[in-house]
Amino acid sequence: MNILLTGGAGYIGSHTCAALVEAGLVPVILDNFSNSHPAVLERLQQITGQAVACEKGDVLDTAWVRQVLERRQIGAVLHFAGDKAVGESVAQPLKYYRNNIGGAVSLLEAMQATSCRTLVFSSSATVYGDPASVPITEDFARRHTNPYGHTKLVIEDILSALQVADASWRLGVLRYFNPVGAHPSGLIGEDPSGIPNNLMPFVTQVAIGKRPFLNVYGTDYPTPDGTGVRDYIHVQDLAEGHVAALKALLDKKESFTVNLGTGHGNSVLEVVKAFEAASGRPVPFQAAPRRPGDVAQCYADPALARRLLGWRATRSLDDMCRDAWRWQSGNPEGYK
Ligand code: NAD
Ligand code: UFG
Repeated sequence: MNILLTGGAGYIGSHTCAALVEAGLVPVILDNFSNSHPAVLERLQQITGQAVACEKGDVLDTAWVRQVLERRQIGAVLHFAGDKAVGESVAQPLKYYRNNIGGAVSLLEAMQATSCRTLVFSSSATVYGDPASVPITEDFARRHTNPYGHTKLVIEDILSALQVADASWRLGVLRYFNPVGAHPSGLIGEDPSGIPNNLMPFVTQVAIGKRPFLNVYGTDYPTPDGTGVRDYIHVQDLAEGHVAALKALLDKKESFTVNLGTGHGNSVLEVVKAFEAASGRPVPFQAAPRRPGDVAQCYADPALARRLLGWRATRSLDDMCRDAWRWQSGNPEGYK
């Protein structure tokens, strides 16, 4: 079956693309390359041993997306396309409402005009805001603390409304925790433009000498070592989670919303230590004030995904660090 991956050239989409081929499905990437590089397509060919189809264009172009769905005979869609930088969303909210919410509505309209009714959506643990407790189950209250998070919340609500209006939709909402790591081949990985916002790409850039030290944002949180705790999940586990979600929907199971996380939290200092061990490189760091909007702890209860999808994360923090380092050290300038 042909599966459309909007945003499939990006970090999570490219790893999922490789996992789909491994599962015997046929991916078609749709991407405007606003935050990715076309070189990823050659890398995917090296990994999968076959050319991966790609449609270059914008998910906001509803008529074109509809044409792609029909021409490529798409049976299901994985919707990754969107902007994801929290800070940028505060500075440029309209960009986020247009691209993320507008993009989702455009895609859904295009799908509605065809017979394709199966969609997996990339949501985020950001919809839990500052959770009342951990681990987080899917029934926790949702709130948003920035426009990026707001877009995820609104899109989840749009999907619910669509389900009420037309029960034939098969919708899988995946709330990712903190995806890190890279494909074990070292051929694809995370390639942020400019200064990385997220911990792992910043750590890898310090280790390779691109940046002098890591700022540890907050050392006085109510956590065992005072630094923020997150549920880091290997991007390969996440990619396999998408395959499991897709299979469940194609088996005509009910629509669902699930957390994709490991169920374990690690602190910033634990990540630094694990990375130093995996890479053999020092990661100098200094204490810095808390980053506005950050929460002390955020980790998943992943039991529902296990029950509904038969999926669980199997890779360790050491695997994540080792694979992130293999990618960074083999590709110091990313895909460029
Ligand atoms: P990414 O930026 O690497 O990938 C997104 C891709 O979408 C890019 O290739 C970009 O070029 C493309 N794109 C953006 N707008 C588009 C448009 N209008 N038309 C066509 N293509 C467009 O991001 P990622 O880390 O792979 O994230 C994928 C999805 O997962 C996003 O929706 C993101 O919000 C969500 N998510 C990511 C994280 C994370 O930490 N990486 C966590 C939770 C959720
Ligand atoms: N951190 C540092 N120094 C840095 C970067 C991060 O100490 O240079 C700390 C943060 O303070 C936090 C932890 O590392 O305690 C993780 O921060 P990230 O920026 O890597 O990840 P977040 O948990 O803040 O957010 C990420 C994505 C969001 C998504 C969320 C939940 O950026 O888009 O995970 O999925 F919503």
